[in-house]
Amino acid sequence: MSRTRLAGIALGSIFRSSKRPPDFTPEQIARAAPEQVFPPGFLLGAATSAHQVEGGNENDWTDWERSTFPDGTPHIHDRTESGLACDSYRRFDEDLRLLKELGANAYRLGVEWARLEPSEGAWNQEAADRYRSWLDQLAAAGIRSMVTVHHFTLPRWVSADGGWQTDRTIDRLEAFTRKVAEAFGARVDLWCTLNEPNVVGIHGYLKGIWPPGLKDEVQCAWAIARQMKAHARMARVLREKTGKPVGIAHHVRVFQPATRSPMDKVVARVAEDFFNDSLVDCHRTGRIRLMVPGKVDIDEAVPDLKGSYDYLGINYYSRDHMKADFKEPSMSRQFVPEGRPVSDLGWDIYPEGLYLLLRRYGRLKIPIHITENGISDESGALRADFLRSHLYAVEAALRDGVDVRGYFHWSLMDNFEWAEGLRSRFGLYRVDYTDPRRTRTATPAVATFQEFARKLARAPAVEGKRSWGS
Ligand code: BGC
Repeated sequence: MSRTRLAGIALGSIFRSSKRPPDFTPEQIARAAPEQVFPPGFLLGAATSAHQVEGGNENDWTDWERSTFPDGTPHIHDRTESGLACDSYRRFDEDLRLLKELGANAYRLGVEWARLEPSEGAWNQEAADRYRSWLDQLAAAGIRSMVTVHHFTLPRWVSADGGWQTDRTIDRLEAFTRKVAEAFGARVDLWCTLNEPNVVGIHGYLKGIWPPGLKDEVQCAWAIARQMKAHARMARVLREKTGKPVGIAHHVRVFQPATRSPMDKVVARVAEDFFNDSLVDCHRTGRIRLMVPGKVDIDEAVPDLKGSYDYLGINYYSRDHMKADFKEPSMSRQFVPEGRPVSDLGWDIYPEGLYLLLRRYGRLKIPIHITENGISDESGALRADFLRSHLYAVEAALRDGVDVRGYFHWSLMDNFEWAEGLRSRFGLYRVDYTDPRRTRTATPAVATFQEFARKLARAPAVEGKRSWGS
């Protein structure tokens, strides 16, 4: 590990930002005036992913859902499977109705690799026609599409041959992307290559709680690095074939030292560097740099990575308090202090964090889309305030000059929440999984979203360029 790289972590990257958030008191949030600040053409929408909503998929995740850990504990906490999920594959008209009802002008949706390419080189024309018709319907409704090419799930023929443990997956995802670009390019407004390479690496290859269930620091780092290499190649293909803006969705978090102890500060900084900054910074440096002192040290130039984000997508949910603990694989324990407001999953509700991260990554000087932000809230009592306070964070960042172009709430409706199963509910709309029609019902946050959409629609038109990508 080079001394310069360690010093880079210690001193902080270009992303260091000391600005404190403004007040997030209820009174302050009530004084929000988005119509004065949000730029014309701002994308206000919701997000889903293919496997989580479509139903009827067969991929590495469905295999994982049906199996257990060696001690017999189910992989999915509530013992559910994605199964029919929201049945969106057959009920897209319902989803479109919800988007219209919300007043959304954008939708982030995914295509399912295993469905479109069920065996290597095959192409499922029926599925392609269906996705194409969804994109046509969105366009007809004036709703911009952001299409995620790869959101966690791998076809079995890819996972059986090593998944993110082999470079062959990079080649195969590039080849799949070429077909996706040819099939849908004319209809897509914005591309999102991959979703959250860091989360896939950590859950699947370090903690062993997602497929393929490995616990290996080095494999984790390489899984992340390979996904970034795939992103670089996908971005080139999508730009060449479609000319539409291309980005990636990175999960970024606030890592706060639990105490003033220097060791807590160091582990918070290492987590920030590994989990957040190193991936965001690929666009600027053209290198993949992943380091955990004494354990992992990847530093590789990757052709096509430099400048590969037309926009930066950030998925923001929460903050971690970091306590040094060198017995843990991540060298720390993460926790939420007593008394903090939390979601059903125990995640700290910290809207200030969205402001801080927008300021931080605004320094990249490219457009930013918030590709995901939401809350697991079964009662539906927390979501409206969550939405209001996080949109307030976006407003504050815009006031400071950060170039934010879109906000996609996670999620349009409840869906299959990976290892948590169906019980964890992130939807603006509640889905009734006991009903074969998968009826969707508005939660109280729908009215908040609608009110916000109305304010933006009423905002005075400003002369000038109206764009949402690059
Ligand atoms: C993922 C989504 C997931 C959400 C809530 C993100 O990490 O992209 O697929 O449902 O978080 O956990």
